Amino acid sequence: MRSVLAAAICFVLLRSCALAIRSLPRELRLGLGGATGRAGSSCDARVKFLEAPEYRNGPGCRKSDGNRGGAGSVCDPSLFRIAMTLDLEYLRGTVAAVHSVLKHTSCPENIFFHFVASASANRETLAGILRSAFPSLRFKIYGFDEGSVRRMISSSVRQALENPLNYARSYLADLLEPCVERVIYLDSDVILVDDVLKLWTVPLTGSRAIGAPEYCHANFTKYFSDEFWSDTELPKVFEGKRPCYFNTGVMVMDLLRWREGDYRRRIEGWMEIQRERRIYELGSLPPFLLVFGGDVEAIDRRWNQHGLGGDNVVNSCRTLHPGPVSLLHWSGKGKPWTRLDLKMPCPVDYLWMPYDLYSSKDSSLAAQQL
Ligand SMILES: *[C@@H]1O[C@H](CO)[C@@H](O)[C@H](O)[C@H]1NC(C)=O
Repeated sequence: MRSVLAAAICFVLLRSCALAIRSLPRELRLGLGGATGRAGSSCDARVKFLEAPEYRNGPGCRKSDGNRGGAGSVCDPSLFRIAMTLDLEYLRGTVAAVHSVLKHTSCPENIFFHFVASASANRETLAGILRSAFPSLRFKIYGFDEGSVRRMISSSVRQALENPLNYARSYLADLLEPCVERVIYLDSDVILVDDVLKLWTVPLTGSRAIGAPEYCHANFTKYFSDEFWSDTELPKVFEGKRPCYFNTGVMVMDLLRWREGDYRRRIEGWMEIQRERRIYELGSLPPFLLVFGGDVEAIDRRWNQHGLGGDNVVNSCRTLHPGPVSLLHWSGKGKPWTRLDLKMPCPVDYLWMPYDLYSSKDSSLAAQQL
């Protein structure tokens, strides 16, 4: 009962925090590109993370250009780059994912995080929270104008859509600096248990713009409607290809090829068709399948053990698939932090727990202040 209450309070705090951020004066919300200094809002004091253990490069890492921290070093060629979204709802997951990347990589000081947040979020506050957990983390927070993508999303899909930031991965090539040529995109509900540099160095052969584990045994047909398959023209997109399902939560992306191929426009083209005719049911995934299906670099499946969230919070625990694991992904409705707080964890959730930096002591303190 206590834990349910605590979870409810925690949720209320995060909600009020989100509202507080949205209701900040416009001047405070804008012009925060540099994101320097500690955030000082009352919201910041409520969302507390423990500081992660210090990390150092092992031998043989690329020499940095020496310009540590700040967005000025964003083009440093010695960097390995990871892109993730950043919002308060999934912040605990994002912090755990970052922690897991740093813990298992041989060159943690060479990792740069490109975080994409809603344009209406207070990036200064988010940066302060990240710095409290990772004082020397190299990162930049980009503002994503959700309004433009909202207009692209068909009304039928919009109801089921939890978060417009789901679409941010389609805009990385536009949001990130032109000097950024490769990035690994990660969802916020993942944990790495292996060195991310192994994933970084995966070659994308031919003219492929993205790499991801493929699942060719999955029934590809079901991701599109009868309206799509019965059309005389639309299914031709897959002609001469052998498209397989892939999960867009872990992708190696060649942003040079992405920009050259104008893949953002191609994805938006399918979203425009979806606005007129219902060719699929899900939100951000089907356009990726349409544009890249059959043209994805098939990466070892150890890099995305997905589906660990199960279908809902209770009674749908998933087990790990056989074989080696480098990345665990709690895709699906159940998230490990929610189930752990409710004291109803699935066995796989205990693998997430060691990376959690959320400080629940502070949340109960904050609850007393309410
Ligand atoms: C794949 O899914 C479609 C649509 O849901 C279904 O009609 C078809 O029978 C399925 N195929 C197989 C091999 O299960």
